[in-house]
Amino acid sequence: MKNRLSPSVLAADFGALREDLYLAEEAGAESFHFDIMDGHFVPNLSYGLSLVSALRKNSKAFFDVHLMVDNPDFYFPLCKEAGADRVSFHVEATPHIDRSLHAIRELGMEAGVALNPATPLSSLDEILPILSYVLLMSVNPGFGGQKFIPYSLDKVKRLRKLAEARGFDLEIGIDGGVGLQNIRDILDNGANFIIAGSSVFSKKEEVGESVRQFNRFIR
Ligand code: DX5
Ligand code: ZN
Repeated sequence: MKNRLSPSVLAADFGALREDLYLAEEAGAESFHFDIMDGHFVPNLSYGLSLVSALRKNSKAFFDVHLMVDNPDFYFPLCKEAGADRVSFHVEATPHIDRSLHAIRELGMEAGVALNPATPLSSLDEILPILSYVLLMSVNPGFGGQKFIPYSLDKVKRLRKLAEARGFDLEIGIDGGVGLQNIRDILDNGANFIIAGSSVFSKKEEVGESVRQFNRFIR
């Protein structure tokens, strides 16, 4: 399973998004993470899929869309139109997880589920055979720049063990509060898809260098 860094666009400069993404991609970012919020599932709004679509035109990176919304199924066709490569929705947001995973795949995208920090791994028991990606939240979703919740590390470790024991080569993402100070531990515990927002984009003059520093650990 390949390790990848996926800078979270939520922390980029909204007045110069194209430039920020260019700086990150030039420095070696192979993916971007897009946080879609609806003000219901999470107490905040971010941006819509038209923004994803606009950025798609100038980027060759893997576009990873994280839906923090109620009724996620409504957004899947919009994600496809916008050029998303993968869509993750929250298991807490719908009782029809199996149906939603199939709906994403039928549209020709990779499908994943996201789990809030307090949601147990047991919610994955039945669907593990049909999952290629699980996104573990290491902060309560809705805002960038929060502190990494320490117990998330053990959750990553247990999920990696569980997937291995059942013979699945699962892609495990970690999202929230990730920085150069904890990246080593996160990788060692078994995450391989690393989402980082503020630690990549907070200073424009350091975007490229941050990506390179992350990739020294990740690649
Ligand atoms: C939180 C989002 C995250 C966020 C990460 O609701 O899902 O993707 O952008 O931002 P940082 O890395 O700043 O915690
Ligand atoms: Zn996210």
